[in-house]
Amino acid sequence: MNLYVTGAIIRNLREKSKMTQLELAEKLGVSDKTVSKWETAKGYPDITLLEPIAKAFGISVTELISGNAVRNANVSANMLRSSFYVCPVCGNVVHSMGEATIQCHGILLSPLEAETTDEHHMIFIERVEDEYYVRIDHSMTKEHYISFIAAASSDSMQLVKLYPEGNAEARFKIRGVRRIFFYCNRDGLFMIDPVKGIDDKESAYDDSRERRELEKVAEKLFG
Ligand SMILES: [Fe+2]
Repeated sequence: MNLYVTGAIIRNLREKSKMTQLELAEKLGVSDKTVSKWETAKGYPDITLLEPIAKAFGISVTELISGNAVRNANVSANMLRSSFYVCPVCGNVVHSMGEATIQCHGILLSPLEAETTDEHHMIFIERVEDEYYVRIDHSMTKEHYISFIAAASSDSMQLVKLYPEGNAEARFKIRGVRRIFFYCNRDGLFMIDPVKGIDDKESAYDDSRERRELEKVAEKLFG
């Protein structure tokens, strides 16, 4: 991440705003030569100019420094297109319905990309009355654990935070849920369509009964 605004960012934002160096300079009360110097990495704008520069581009100072200007055209965003951010230092979980510039512990966080579940991160979903009972087959040690499970519908997000030494399981109201997400502190974000998770026999997720039988057999065999 950048610790201060760079010339490349200023040039990029200025060009996107279709401003000349002179036009930007006039807004800031400096000369166009000064703007040119910043853009060619021959000097930095004084700290007192950060706010005026951000204002000239219609963004926040955080966006200016990160070089990541956020444009959320659709304020009534769909929850299914939610993004999750996790701080690698403290494990803080942030949920956003649109683009955002999010920092935690001085780290500019990137939205997590969800993977399909794999053999090390198997999810088991059962319908229990009006709820999904969700369990992840995974260790829950301090070093390697599932830190949250979330269920998204188009207009709601149910998120359950999990902790080491606890159980990797959660219950969610079924109504409208179209995606189930879970996050492993080491292997990242995973996602599954719960209907597929239950009904798609091919993908072998609907094996909770079969699994229990296998566990019984294994117990008999190995104690
Ligand atoms: Fe994992």
